[in-house]
Amino acid sequence: MKHLLSAGDLDRDEALLVLDTAEKLRELADRPIKKLPTLRGRTVVNLFFEDSTRTRISFEAAAKRLSADVINFSAKGSSVEKGESLKDTALTLAAMGADAVVVRHPASGAPHRLAASDWISASVLNAGDGTHEHPTQALLDAFTMRRHLGELEGRRIAIVGDVLHSRVARSNVLLLQTLGADVTLVGPPTLLPVGVEQWSVATSYDLDSVLPKTDVVMMLRVQRERMNAAFFPSAREYSRRYGLDAVRMAALPDHALVMHPGPMNRGMEISADVADSTRSVIVEQVTNGVAVRMAALYLLLAGAGSAVDDAVPEQR
Ligand code: CP
Repeated sequence: MKHLLSAGDLDRDEALLVLDTAEKLRELADRPIKKLPTLRGRTVVNLFFEDSTRTRISFEAAAKRLSADVINFSAKGSSVEKGESLKDTALTLAAMGADAVVVRHPASGAPHRLAASDWISASVLNAGDGTHEHPTQALLDAFTMRRHLGELEGRRIAIVGDVLHSRVARSNVLLLQTLGADVTLVGPPTLLPVGVEQWSVATSYDLDSVLPKTDVVMMLRVQRERMNAAFFPSAREYSRRYGLDAVRMAALPDHALVMHPGPMNRGMEISADVADSTRSVIVEQVTNGVAVRMAALYLLLAGAGSAVDDAVPEQR
């Protein structure tokens, strides 16, 4: 595979290869020397047209741990603000010899446009495009679930809240279905996408009835910046019906995990005590994001045929 654009592009074996590779690379985080020479001499460009904390920093950390050179490009303060197009930005990056371009863009499909163009020959990794997809987020979420729960076949995952605007939800549904999990989307009718019945997942408007039958509850950020105010329920009403607080968390099975991709609206979709509780793996999701993004860069740039065991020597 040359690009990573959609979680739906990965078949089961490919998804498990990324997760198993990330597991090997995750071991590095516990070693005194966390770097591998694998991508020495290669250049990874982080091309961010939209704000990010976790994704941008973890892709940068991942590329540096593989010894790649990293160029960080933020549209803010660049010639994009003078009207430069995606094509001319891409041609500029190609002229600098990019081997991989990690793209976040507010327009759904922008990374696909770049990958399909002849503007650039680099691998393109989708770091979040509009309301469409965020495949490495889904991979790090699956990786985190797998570390706690084992294989995901038959596991019950509730994805809760603003599904309509969530690229995280779309990528998670695609990947979790590939891995055999049972997904339920929960939210108010106005925040579930039109045509959601074609996603082949269960849906519910009633969070309280779903929680006791759930292995993982993944809370989604309410994306008020993408909403018409007229469609948004009041924060208090939203929180009352769909917020995860300590009382609701008590309804979960003992082994169940609480997840959130971040950034969180504490006090809206998740209360601060739940976000900081022992059930929450939200900080661990961020840690795991580095290993998963290392795996994605490794497999795209070093090649799926390169054994990760050779790259990560046994510790003596
Ligand atoms: N989860 C996520 O994509 O976070 P950032 O927007 O901070 O990258």
